[in-house]
Amino acid sequence: MAYNLLKGKRGIIFGALDENSIAWKTAERVHEEGGTFVLTNAPIAMRMGQIKQLAEKTGSEIIPADATLEEDLNTLVSKSMEILGGKLDFVLHSIGMSVNVRKGRHYTDEKYDFTAKGWDISALSFHKVMQSLYKQDAMAEWGSIVALTYMAAQRVFPDYNDMADNKAYLESVARSFGYFFGKEKKVRVNTISQSPTPTTAGQGVKGFDGFISYAEKMSPLGNASALECADYTVSLFSDLTKKVTMQNLFHDGGFSNTGVSQEVIDYFSES
Ligand SMILES: NC(=O)c1ccc[n+]([C@@H]2O[C@H](COP(=O)([O-])OP(=O)(O)OC[C@H]3O[C@@H](n4cnc5c(N)ncnc54)[C@H](O)[C@@H]3O)[C@@H](O)[C@H]2O)c1
Repeated sequence: MAYNLLKGKRGIIFGALDENSIAWKTAERVHEEGGTFVLTNAPIAMRMGQIKQLAEKTGSEIIPADATLEEDLNTLVSKSMEILGGKLDFVLHSIGMSVNVRKGRHYTDEKYDFTAKGWDISALSFHKVMQSLYKQDAMAEWGSIVALTYMAAQRVFPDYNDMADNKAYLESVARSFGYFFGKEKKVRVNTISQSPTPTTAGQGVKGFDGFISYAEKMSPLGNASALECADYTVSLFSDLTKKVTMQNLFHDGGFSNTGVSQEVIDYFSES
């Protein structure tokens, strides 16, 4: 169901790779709610992904940008304002990649140039995006910036590897930049801490299948899907959440506040 919550709002959506991507679902939902946007992804993802189909479906333009490159980001921000016809009301950062995870390096055996690259892509890029928006005064008053994160920032999930550290940094950047964006520009900045979700990035984590089933059994409401995450993001882009800022918002069916569920107790109980 659509509520026209984003009618007249303009923005940028990072990270739609294929139809499983959280950013893909978000783009579809933002479009349904009346928002207009530019889609962006790393130049390499343009070749691999199906982003053109999404652009056609949502009447959007695509501007390739490597989120680690300030120059790419500056061009993306200025061109987006030109294309959309004004300042931006919303930005979604939906980007993550660990080279250590990809190359199968254990957390206790990191290769530090892999670590640095993964941190740049997954965490520092959020600061770079916001710095570009801030310096170009690209956000409209009461605009909203959202990045996606995972609970491994607070608690240990062994196979999440160095992404746990990247997410902790990302969440901290949301708070720190959120202060300045709030004070100077009346713009809010939040992170959504999402349930495990079957996407390209999610399935790259070792043991993902077992883990997503465990999370499903632990969460009183069950895991949150990519589409449900898109809905939540729409609410944060809308005018209904104007004073929510500098928060890490758990969107996980209650997983983060559950010590143990009856299903998990039953699984480990002798009959
Ligand atoms: N899938 C999960 O279980 C889960 C859970 C919590 C949070 N998240 C987070 O959600 C976000 C989106 O991931 P997803 O699960 O939709 O997977 P995804 O693989 O569909 O999206 C990740 C995106 O990051 C992009 N990217 C990688 N390097 C880039 C670069 N240098 N510049 C620009 N873009 C780049 C990829 O092209 C891809 O589109 C990530 O931040 C991820 O950590 C995912």
